[in-house]
Amino acid sequence: MKQVEPRTATGRKHPSRIFQVVTADKDGRPNAMPASWCTFSSAEPIMMAVSVASDRYTHKLMGAADDFVLSFPNKEQKEAVSYCGRNSGKNVDKFEETDLETIPADEVNSPLIEDSVACFECKKSDSIETGDHTLFVGEVVATHVSERFTEKIYTTKGWHEKGAKGFKTIAEINDHEEV
Ligand SMILES: Cc1cc2nc3c(=O)[nH]c(=O)nc-3n(C[C@H](O)[C@H](O)[C@H](O)COP(=O)(O)O)c2cc1C
Repeated sequence: MKQVEPRTATGRKHPSRIFQVVTADKDGRPNAMPASWCTFSSAEPIMMAVSVASDRYTHKLMGAADDFVLSFPNKEQKEAVSYCGRNSGKNVDKFEETDLETIPADEVNSPLIEDSVACFECKKSDSIETGDHTLFVGEVVATHVSERFTEKIYTTKGWHEKGAKGFKTIAEINDHEEV
């Protein structure tokens, strides 16, 4: 073992699966933000936690709302996810600018994204400030899966240079030595 810069060690966590954090403002206007810093945090009840930087529009929405949805995008949504990661809901309506479609959730105000591999409806239960991000924790109150898509997408080290081409399925990662 050798000691290295944090950047070198954290680079080895890639590939990381991508979620979209779906939120809505008080008028119901939805927004979606790709996130890879996301995890299950409890099994009973099922809880999930996502870390959101304080300058994201999503941070403002999650601070004000009682709920959020976490969605695994499918492999055909790479371009849309890339757009959502390069733009802020402060300035654009991401659902107008992409072909992503919302559908109403069963238990929360934030919507689901149609054809997500899986969606988790979460009621916000806690938020913890941690450095320059806030960890939002939610209890999962309803879950959904796509009847058409099962392959999730992962972010690779090259996303910033390659845009959507830096997002890969497991099969694509196995086909390429360099991710
Ligand atoms: C693959 C990927 C993973 C990301 N993960 C996170 C994350 O975990 N937390 C975060 O705050 N931002 C993350 N981002 C950055 C936000 O998605 C990006 O800043 C977005 O434009 C914010 O949108 P908003 O201002 O509409 O909330 C990620 C972006 C990409 C493309």
